[in-house]
Amino acid sequence: MTTLRIYAPASSANLSVGFDSLGAAISPIDGSLLGDVVQIEPCDQPFELESVGYFVRKLPKEVQKNIVYQAYALFAERLKLRGGEVKQLRLTLEKNMPIGSGLGSSACSIVAALVALNQFHDEPFSKMELLEMMGELEGRISGSVHYDNVAPCYLGGLQLMTQSLGNICQPLPFFDHWYWVLAYPGIEVSTAEARAILPKSYTRQEVISQARFLGSFVHACHTHQDGLAAVMMKDLIAEPYRESLLPNFPEVRQGCKDLGALSVGISGSGPTMFAIAPDLEHAQKLSSYLEKHYLQNNEGFIHICKVDNFGARALK
Ligand code: HSE
Repeated sequence: MTTLRIYAPASSANLSVGFDSLGAAISPIDGSLLGDVVQIEPCDQPFELESVGYFVRKLPKEVQKNIVYQAYALFAERLKLRGGEVKQLRLTLEKNMPIGSGLGSSACSIVAALVALNQFHDEPFSKMELLEMMGELEGRISGSVHYDNVAPCYLGGLQLMTQSLGNICQPLPFFDHWYWVLAYPGIEVSTAEARAILPKSYTRQEVISQARFLGSFVHACHTHQDGLAAVMMKDLIAEPYRESLLPNFPEVRQGCKDLGALSVGISGSGPTMFAIAPDLEHAQKLSSYLEKHYLQNNEGFIHICKVDNFGARALK
């Protein structure tokens, strides 16, 4: 078995309308890799792990706390349960994604590691078995098991978490012509913290309205009504409570709408926000506006993206 390098793309969970139920994989249109890479290779020791890349300084120092180590330990445990044994191997995590950004940073590391481990062992686990492990690991970080980052990061496209009849998720037809302008302000928001501030219950009217939004959004995807899909991307569950964690979010959201964004919302648990543009010209205007009004420091960035229909993949 030779060296493998697996790239796992960024993802945007919720799409406003589907809290914990929807997520899309995202890639910049300029071809840059917005995601993590895990390299796996044979080793003369039982196990070695090295972490490199710009955001490595934000990772826990103790190796057992590194999510890639945890992915390895879980993979080894599950393989043992079916009579297999992990090979001697060395993993290198290239941590390119900012932590606590709302772009599925932990999912990128988890997905790249498990896909690399599975391929290195000649695919002992099915896609859904691997995805179940990814959800378990994501749950350790964010405090609850949800698949809306790991599923699109692994499988690509827009995924709906059906969690029934043997499928954790199923792909939805989506709007490939939409441009996603993603703005990460450069500050950190932990998913656990952003979940803790949500209310314990919602009113009947809120539940009914949110069900109508999500049902209509899914219908719009299947019937190719991009206008209906965009207006249904509304969030009564998280956005009203999370916007206080984001810098000037209500003003910036309005500013993006005034510039022609079809939909504006929080990516995952934030603080990245997304604005959807109908064409490249609008996307570029939104990008300049967000750069001026939403970025807080030098760590922040803007990417004009499209939905990534490939998901995790081997790099040449
Ligand atoms: N659905 C999750 C949330 C995504 O919004 O808390 C964060 O990873």
